[in-house]
Amino acid sequence: MDAELHCDIYSQKLTSDEFGIIQTYIQDKCGIRLPLTKKDMVEGRLRKRLKALHLSTYGEYIALVFNSADPGAEREQMNLIDTITTNKTDFFREPNHFEFLTERLLPQLEKNGLGTERTLNVWSSACSTGEEPYTLAMVLAEHFGLKGNFRVYASDISYSVLERAVKAVYTTEKVSDIPDQFKKKYMLRSKDSASGLVRIKPELRQKVSFGRLNLMNESYNLPVEMNVVFCRNVIIYFNHQTQYEIIGKICSNMVRGGYLFLGHSESVHGMELPLNTVAPTVFFRI
Ligand SMILES: C[S@@+](CC[C@H](N)C(=O)[O-])C[C@H]1O[C@@H](n2cnc3c(N)ncnc32)[C@H](O)[C@@H]1O
Repeated sequence: MDAELHCDIYSQKLTSDEFGIIQTYIQDKCGIRLPLTKKDMVEGRLRKRLKALHLSTYGEYIALVFNSADPGAEREQMNLIDTITTNKTDFFREPNHFEFLTERLLPQLEKNGLGTERTLNVWSSACSTGEEPYTLAMVLAEHFGLKGNFRVYASDISYSVLERAVKAVYTTEKVSDIPDQFKKKYMLRSKDSASGLVRIKPELRQKVSFGRLNLMNESYNLPVEMNVVFCRNVIIYFNHQTQYEIIGKICSNMVRGGYLFLGHSESVHGMELPLNTVAPTVFFRI
């Protein structure tokens, strides 16, 4: 029976109409554009949901997701978002941002009392599985010490990546780019050395708070105004207008004199925003 179901799913195709329904939902809900070139990718990723739910057609899946009378619909909408979003990330990804922080920004912020007398608040706004916020926490802890007056806030739209981020368990392969002195200070090896797993130390984990936030929300209701924001490798999936609106909302959640970091292939070109460029993809909030 299982083998039959397996064959069935693999012979199924997502029709253009079905793709259109998913495309519109994802664009409206998460801001993510899904051009026709992504149809095969969407089909492949949704196949996993069909299998998990023992469904045999994409039509059945769409009926379930968008049937407001079905109590499971809302949960499956979350799974759909988790399935479609791209979560690729790494520790110390785009390392020149962390060099800029260490060499130029942190000494200057410290001169203004941030990280010492006043709390330095840093936000990783599309944090995926946690590598970006934990890298930030390591860099800040290196500068100010683990008892330094800083806090890292981290958010993402996807519950499944947030769950993994909170656990803070990574493979040794995943942490291979982290400099040894950081690994020694901020990571713990699993008791079972054969597991090949490491975990971020509790003292560093305590410096990072995670929460779910959809950047498409009208307002973000953050607990504090941010001094530094990392919004990297997420707006690339949005259209120009959505990018503009999201960066605008991020700016209104930053202190004047704060810093915004975008991914290396992202820009604010052609957008009227209260930002001045200070380095490639690094902006000062005026
Ligand atoms: C490619 S990862 C980037 C992770 C990290 N910032 C980095 O640069 O390595 C993009 C992340 O954006 C999240 N994302 C996509 N749409 C979002 C939205 N509307 N609101 C918040 N997060 C979103 C995805 O779930 C994913 O974890």
